Amino acid sequence: MPGKEKMITRSLRYLDLEMPVHLLDSWITPVELFYVRNHLALPSVNLAAWSVAVIGEVERPLELSLTDLERLPQASVTNTMECAGNGRSFYRPRVPGIQWSRGGVGNAKFSGPRLADLLRRAGVKASGKHVAFNGLDEPPGKVPDFVRSIPIEKALDADTLVATKMNGAPLKIEHGFPARVVVPGWLGAASVKWLIEIKVIDREYEGNFMKPGYRFPVHSVPPGGEISPEETAVITGLPVKSIIARPEDGSHQKLGPIRIHGAAWAGEQEVTRVEISADGGRTWQPAAFGRDKAKYAWRLWEYTWKPSAPGSYVVMSRATDSAGRTQPAEPAWNPSGYLWNVIDRVRFHVQA
Ligand code: MTE
Repeated sequence: MPGKEKMITRSLRYLDLEMPVHLLDSWITPVELFYVRNHLALPSVNLAAWSVAVIGEVERPLELSLTDLERLPQASVTNTMECAGNGRSFYRPRVPGIQWSRGGVGNAKFSGPRLADLLRRAGVKASGKHVAFNGLDEPPGKVPDFVRSIPIEKALDADTLVATKMNGAPLKIEHGFPARVVVPGWLGAASVKWLIEIKVIDREYEGNFMKPGYRFPVHSVPPGGEISPEETAVITGLPVKSIIARPEDGSHQKLGPIRIHGAAWAGEQEVTRVEISADGGRTWQPAAFGRDKAKYAWRLWEYTWKPSAPGSYVVMSRATDSAGRTQPAEPAWNPSGYLWNVIDRVRFHVQA
């Protein structure tokens, strides 16, 4: 994919690209490093024929071109988007699906009209309780289409956008050109790309990507255990999580002060603390936050560690958020391998 040469290819059919986390070095993720997750083939978009319809439980159905979207009042949200499957490769026993390591996440500034403005123009009826989104990507044969819904409250939130821009430029095709939903703080799957239909409905949408897809057990499951869909709930906001960007896992460092840095995010919550341990979790030291912050965006953090002797070390990072959630030491194994947020760790060698 032109412009994505630095990415790790997790799947070619369909295209899934992961950010190598050691390249995470800026608050805003450049588009060339922003992960890509597609369930179907990239659609080809004929902009002259493209429009997005607002239909369903509304008084006045609408059909809007890209120019119509650009004429509406514009808003921006800096959002850390993460695929619910990010970290799946760490679960034991292994679970099927794209084997993401840590880089199925990025932080970008998305801009476009507020979804609420489109919905208000269409006039949501009292029966409208959820909003379902469909994109231009089409499934082959009997494969289910990628359609997902969010509750009307989140749809009307002033930060939920129909984004046409990412980091100030028109969306690239792989990120949903010409328009995508951006549901800040929620799993990436909520932010439907290549948007063509916004349908107000009276209940949660019931397609494959709502059930059994993108659900998490409501109680703990023993590793390798089974669970019925009735014992799961739709995933919404992201959990608290930190990742260490550098030192790179397996790298060699010179004896002396070592800069440990990374990012931490918490969905709709605020990250309040990141702590570092270099002694297997016995003691934790606070990391310093970078200056940049925004409601749904990750915080960059760093910590300078001074090893006293050469050797092989494991350094860990642990984030806590404003809801009092802290990254766990043990994984919450689940059959689809979603929401991995265990305390992060890297092993590296310190040489004299
Ligand atoms: N929208 C459509 N139409 N088709 C898709 O396959 N994938 C979803 C979501 N929107 C998807 C989609 C998933 S699972 C994620 S994690 C995000 O898009 C990824 O967005 P990105 O590729 O821009 O990073």
